[in-house]
Amino acid sequence: MSVDRSNIVLVGFMGTGKTLVGKSLARSTGLDYVSLDERIEQIERRTIKQIFSESGEGYFRELEKRVLRRELEKERRVIDTGGGVVLDRNNMDLMNERGVCICLWASLDEILKRTSGHGHRPLLNVPDPRRRISDLLSKRRPFYEKAPHHVDTTGKSVDDVVKEIRGIVDA
Ligand code: S3P
Repeated sequence: MSVDRSNIVLVGFMGTGKTLVGKSLARSTGLDYVSLDERIEQIERRTIKQIFSESGEGYFRELEKRVLRRELEKERRVIDTGGGVVLDRNNMDLMNERGVCICLWASLDEILKRTSGHGHRPLLNVPDPRRRISDLLSKRRPFYEKAPHHVDTTGKSVDDVVKEIRGIVDA
């Protein structure tokens, strides 16, 4: 599998490092970096938080699906997806068709640590984020498990994770 023939698509729960790792992986491979959430915010001229509160999650998911499809028409990019993109089977099929799909993981404690203090994730703006993360993780685990490649980021540096991913995509 060679990076110059494909996109690298990073999926995984919130706080598993997709953005930091994605940017560093793009630098390391020479591919362009694109964040689906950023694209969505540009198109809507609203933050993800506003989209959720003003138009609802269903509206966001439709938008996410359209933007994913459009971004996957291009090549040679590292695509940083939002944590819920895997919930749609067609999204998953498309990501596998158009790229090398890699799922990042982290422990519940690490996710909690990495996401706390940031108010921009509407799904985690709840009184008990640990419980919400745990519930969402168990619901979503089967969807993340469908990805063909998996990298645990718990306790690892961004560089280490990038090296592991390069081991997969350069093989
Ligand atoms: C979501 C994850 C977020 C963002 C939105 C919904 C999710 O992206 O797309 O808040 O459903 O897990 P990150 O995974 O980049 O935080």
